Amino acid sequence: MTLPPAASLHHGAESFYPHWQRLNDWLVQHREFWQPAPFMEPEPAWTRRYPELAATVSALSDSDGEHLDEAPEQLAGLASGWVPSLADYAALVQVPQLSPSEENVATATLPEVRATDMPGRKRLQAGAFAASLAPLEHPALDWCCGKGHLSRTLAPACPGGVQGYEWNPELVRDGNRLARQFGDQVSISCQDVMAPALAFPKNRHGVALHACGDLHRQLLRRGSDAALPRLSVSPCCYHLTNQEIYRPLSERAAGHDNLLQPSRNDLRLAVQETVTAPARVREQTRKTSQWRLAFDGLQRHLRGCDEYLPVPSHPARLVNEGFPAFCRWAADKKHLELPGNTDFDAWLAVGAQRLAQVRRHELVRHLFRRPLELWLVLDYSVFLEEQGYRVRLGQFCDRALTPRNLLIDAIRMP
Ligand SMILES: C[S@@+](CC[C@H](N)C(=O)[O-])C[C@H]1O[C@@H](n2cnc3c(N)ncnc32)[C@H](O)[C@@H]1O
Repeated sequence: MTLPPAASLHHGAESFYPHWQRLNDWLVQHREFWQPAPFMEPEPAWTRRYPELAATVSALSDSDGEHLDEAPEQLAGLASGWVPSLADYAALVQVPQLSPSEENVATATLPEVRATDMPGRKRLQAGAFAASLAPLEHPALDWCCGKGHLSRTLAPACPGGVQGYEWNPELVRDGNRLARQFGDQVSISCQDVMAPALAFPKNRHGVALHACGDLHRQLLRRGSDAALPRLSVSPCCYHLTNQEIYRPLSERAAGHDNLLQPSRNDLRLAVQETVTAPARVREQTRKTSQWRLAFDGLQRHLRGCDEYLPVPSHPARLVNEGFPAFCRWAADKKHLELPGNTDFDAWLAVGAQRLAQVRRHELVRHLFRRPLELWLVLDYSVFLEEQGYRVRLGQFCDRALTPRNLLIDAIRMP
């Protein structure tokens, strides 16, 4: 497949559908690289079909692996030596920057003295989000607003103020208290946004910063049904949905012949990132991943069956109790008997080896995170076009501030 140059993938009055279609077909074409989860599948089929690629990633040092995980375009370039169609990666994931100058972002960001209870990243994310939407022309409706950090950031520039919807009564109370304390024109209502009888205020600018899965999809559907004049959404946690097999929102995408039909579990890939996790969390994840893979080897051996066995999430206390305690807990959950002479150190070594292999295979799988995310978000954009909106899609902040940095900004056409 030869793609047009990146610039033509970006859209003035042009529809987002052709871009969605290219991504859809590319993701379908490369399914073998991203659908099998390396954690469950020690030797995915692609490692046999492209043994040189498999050998190349296996031979990477940890630090080269970590570097390439953060540089997917470089990895795609490397892998395209064996899988030429991966060279299309860069053109497929390119989207414009929506945030204006640093100065405008700084002006739109709440000063620290007014950012009580607001984690530093959230303050900056909300500022970048607000700056990307300037000028605001309608009162805003902040969907799943938590304590109203975005609401309070938008309020000074928002004619008519901001109404927030949030279902957690404690957050509602705290948010309203903060708004009163700082004199912000913000009022938060305790509201389940999924309620079928939800009253939809007219003539509001619907905004949502990191509302999860079905929650942001509900705003896109219900907000466009209610003909809201503008909808601005930065989505996250796409996999939080009650659909087993995900269906696109737009008619054109849903009617596409070669439609990708990801399971809920496949959708997790779109948000699988480590970029913002602190070192301590990363280390803990490494340790428990090694234990789980070690236990996987052990259970395959004990059952005489070379198949992955899902083990539920473990209680936090186990992390401090060591690998043998973890094995006893997991064996109990799976009704397996652990022999008294189990050589835990040997199985831990198996876990370490599997983890190194999983990390290398995940490197290749991770290439498909952003394409999958864009596949979802481009469909939302096509859906909003179908509902009569003119849509901008791009990044509202740097990935280091949040990997969920895509923003759809849709204005209803007269
Ligand atoms: C990831 S947080 C985002 C909060 C806020 N937008 C922000 O960026 O700080 C998602 C919020 O959605 C709220 N929420 C979850 N389900 C909801 C529902 N059905 N109705 C209203 N709010 C909900 C949660 O309580 C949480 O505050």
